[in-house]
Amino acid sequence: MRNIIIKNAAQVVTCSGFRGKRGSEMSDLQVIDNGTVIVTDGIISHILQPGEPIPVEEKDYQITNAEGKALLPGFVDPHTHFVFGGYREEEFSWRMRGDSYMDIMHRGGGIVNTTNATRAATEEELTPSGHERLDAMMHLGITTVEGKSGYGLDRETELKQLRVMRRLNETHAMDVVPTFMGAHATPAEWKGREDAFIDFNIREMFPLVAQEKLAESVDIFCEKGVFTIAQSRRYLKAAREHGFLLKMHADEIISLGGAELAAEMHCLSADHLLQASDAGIRAMADASVVATLLPLTAFSLREPYARGREMIDAGCIVALATDLNPGSSFTASVPLLFALACIYMQLTPEEAVTAFTINSAAALNRADSIGSIDIGKQGDLLLLQFPSYKFLPYHVGMNIVETVIKKGEIVI
Ligand code: NIG
Ligand code: FE
Repeated sequence: MRNIIIKNAAQVVTCSGFRGKRGSEMSDLQVIDNGTVIVTDGIISHILQPGEPIPVEEKDYQITNAEGKALLPGFVDPHTHFVFGGYREEEFSWRMRGDSYMDIMHRGGGIVNTTNATRAATEEELTPSGHERLDAMMHLGITTVEGKSGYGLDRETELKQLRVMRRLNETHAMDVVPTFMGAHATPAEWKGREDAFIDFNIREMFPLVAQEKLAESVDIFCEKGVFTIAQSRRYLKAAREHGFLLKMHADEIISLGGAELAAEMHCLSADHLLQASDAGIRAMADASVVATLLPLTAFSLREPYARGREMIDAGCIVALATDLNPGSSFTASVPLLFALACIYMQLTPEEAVTAFTINSAAALNRADSIGSIDIGKQGDLLLLQFPSYKFLPYHVGMNIVETVIKKGEIVI
């Protein structure tokens, strides 16, 4: 049944809105105390103030008593690499000994290590592991997830990763939004020929991915020693011509001008941004590029956190994501994400909730259909064990999501 009435929630944390929120707008969650929400045929149909009569036939609906619990929109995770083969636990212990993420990458480990394992895995192997990761994310309250290719770096494996995501989108309750990331790293067979590898992606991969409608956006790892600003600009311009929306891994390790390029290219989002410059932050605010911050990655790599507080104060649309991947952030811990965002990036609990709901929906170009409790949006909701959203960062590292509702059906 896709009809449900969630009665008398201690808080209905609506996050109301149909576009990304910037700056001070991020503080207003538009909470209704003791409210009731009705989902009809998978879509939010009524949002009732306390005491308002139920305007539908209750016998046609599943009824959930939400007294003492906060009701929120399902979380939207707008940056992950959740389809991959193999693991990199050895590299983690090398990092703990002092090797840097980029040292390991330049020795042929890192992304290329996972690429070898992903090339060797069949679709039948990648699908169940992807399915399990989606299960784990849904238990944490995530109802829509973005997933990137980029562990193939050749024609067949990139398409394989994207097809696995398409299949998981069809078979799992989670909505999966696929991104093509052919320029994640340069594989061994193209080493030293980075420009030619970019050309390969532009000439061969973009048309294939566009034709099969396997991805909505295109992403690139713009970083010293990976892909330059000039290569990124060329790749993104060509991607736009194929109708893709644009994303970037920008200014993660070195301040290269990635945020500025994201603004120049009018990217949908720029992600990581640990080293984004003041000018880059201002440019992103002016160009309405969503600044997607990944504090679990900074934590795992022991790197300084992105300047989330300053970005919001500068008027940016800030989103949060887990970056789940086997290297730099092997976690989808939403509880830790909220704690780090507030404790170390100095977001308020209200800003953090906005960043992982309506603004992360905006980072996926879906602010019109998910990310808030508004009439007409998809019935993706979650109930907390506690009466306030403020427990999300406060109850550090604990999963307090009790119930997850996807398109009007209880799935957790
Ligand atoms: O978002 N920085 C580049 N890409 C990923 C990491 C991928 C990997 O290490 O496998 C990221 O952190
Ligand atoms: Fe990433």
